[in-house]
Amino acid sequence: LENQLTHSRRIFLYGPPGSGKTSIGRSLASELDLPFVDLDAEIEIGCGRSIPQIFIEDGEDGFRRLEKAVLEKILGNDAEIVIALGGGSLLDRGSRLLVEESGTVICLQASLEQLAGRLRIASNQRPLLQGDLDIRLAGLLAKRADHYASFADQLDAAGASPADLAWQIQVRLGRFRVTGMGAEYPVSVQSGGLDEIGTQLKETGLEGPIALVSDATVAPLYAEQAWRSITAAGYAGGMVVIPAGEAAKTLDTAAYLWKNFLQLGLERGSTVVALGGGVVTDLAGFAAATYLRGLSWAAVPTSLLGMVDASLGGKTGLDLPEGKNLVGTFHAPRFVWTDPNVLQSLPIGELRSGMAEVVKAGIIGDADLFQLCACGLPQNFQDWTRLVARAVAVKVRIIRQDPFERGVRAALNLGHTIGHGLELASAFSLRHGEAVAIGTVLETRLAEETGLAEEGLSRRIAAVLSGLGLPVEIPVGLPIDKVMAAMAHDKKKASGRLRFALPAQIGDVRTGVVIERGLVETILGSPISS
Ligand SMILES: NC(=O)c1ccc[n+]([C@@H]2O[C@H](COP(=O)([O-])OP(=O)(O)OC[C@H]3O[C@@H](n4cnc5c(N)ncnc54)[C@H](O)[C@@H]3O)[C@@H](O)[C@H]2O)c1
Ligand SMILES: [Zn+2]
Repeated sequence: LENQLTHSRRIFLYGPPGSGKTSIGRSLASELDLPFVDLDAEIEIGCGRSIPQIFIEDGEDGFRRLEKAVLEKILGNDAEIVIALGGGSLLDRGSRLLVEESGTVICLQASLEQLAGRLRIASNQRPLLQGDLDIRLAGLLAKRADHYASFADQLDAAGASPADLAWQIQVRLGRFRVTGMGAEYPVSVQSGGLDEIGTQLKETGLEGPIALVSDATVAPLYAEQAWRSITAAGYAGGMVVIPAGEAAKTLDTAAYLWKNFLQLGLERGSTVVALGGGVVTDLAGFAAATYLRGLSWAAVPTSLLGMVDASLGGKTGLDLPEGKNLVGTFHAPRFVWTDPNVLQSLPIGELRSGMAEVVKAGIIGDADLFQLCACGLPQNFQDWTRLVARAVAVKVRIIRQDPFERGVRAALNLGHTIGHGLELASAFSLRHGEAVAIGTVLETRLAEETGLAEEGLSRRIAAVLSGLGLPVEIPVGLPIDKVMAAMAHDKKKASGRLRFALPAQIGDVRTGVVIERGLVETILGSPISS
């Protein structure tokens, strides 16, 4: 959405008669848990007459006046809402201004044939289309073509179900809800979202005092801005800063957080806000889950990996000296608030590493996202926002289907079975994303080898990953037997065989594919070019 910078409180669906404004609007409102209003229905209820009746009695001008008055009334408060507008309701300059100032307008497009097909069913409800429907509709579309085209946000409404189109709008708006693990929670991807944390805490009904947890790198950059938003919403509490980096994801740091929660006077109803990368959200989420048997918490991810992966899905935890993520629990946040603007300060190595997970998301469930990744790193906030929202959408869709990782959620392990082996065998000299990039290419070669994927898929994926500055081959000098041994310790092993999530094609990943160790060893040992 070109002009969409901050969280839009009103979502308007607009477009010609028959484009599906009402059915899509209803679906979208139910997905976002927002109230829904159909402007035409509201007018009919308001004046106790049907729309054709109003047209006969008051003429089109009279109807437009009525329409505007009802619209003003609906927009009279600040409530979030989804509104299906009448097909000509924004022809009036005043109405258009009112609507565009108070939210986002999505204009639905469809061909004359598609519109006519849908309208034939209910044409007697549409006063401007009485008579020969096709001719009248063609005339109306010709007259309004420029008008409809003048809206920035167009959506092709042909050939997809209302539910699919509602999802497409959600992806564009960067607004999701995660269901399936306890209470539902919203996930928002909005440029400028950092300034809305306080409002969101309030609207979620969360209580203070608030502990804002961040790390020593992120806190000097963004904690003040976040804290300003929190106090502006009337909350008290304080900040807790932990050291930056994986080395701090320990039980000791968790204990440090618990003690600070105590000092800040946090009670059963209080809230923890985690502002940082995956280390901060994992650890602050865990500390919140365990303090006083469970505080509410909210995630404000600041690394790319945090935005598209770690902050989503309610897994929290910490590392032991013996291994990563050995201690933890599922504890869903109350909301996840992502502001891609903060990526401007993320070091390039971290950006690239996070991109490995974005490419993974594309391979798992969004061929368009994979194509976007082929264009390299985004160059502006808008493109980052779009990219992050698409990657978030893939993970949200999967965790909604399988919140506790009993089935399809295993698709998210793509690239990670070999990736973890590489990470361990390299003693973490490979970054997580680098190891995942190599793992993704090698696992795709397994898919090719077993006939699941067509020859050439791994080359295509490798080209995109290396275009982003990621490695795609095992570094020279890293012994294969060490990688194999490290993989055997991975939790996904199955006696002599290994279990993988493998791509069949871009947008289609199969889970639970069992592969003989011998084949894995062969693939690890043979370079891509062979
Ligand atoms: N819970 C889950 O489902 C899940 C999923 C994937 C990964 N994880 C965990 O996430 C962690 C990795 O996350 P990560 O890569 O974000 O690590 P991280 O939190 O250590 O962040 C990486 C580095 O970037 C810095 N940083 C973060 N945001 C910044 C910004 N906007 N500007 C400048 N610097 C910034 C951090 O201070 C840190 O030094 C691992 O511990 C992993 O286990 C969890
Ligand atoms: Zn990962």
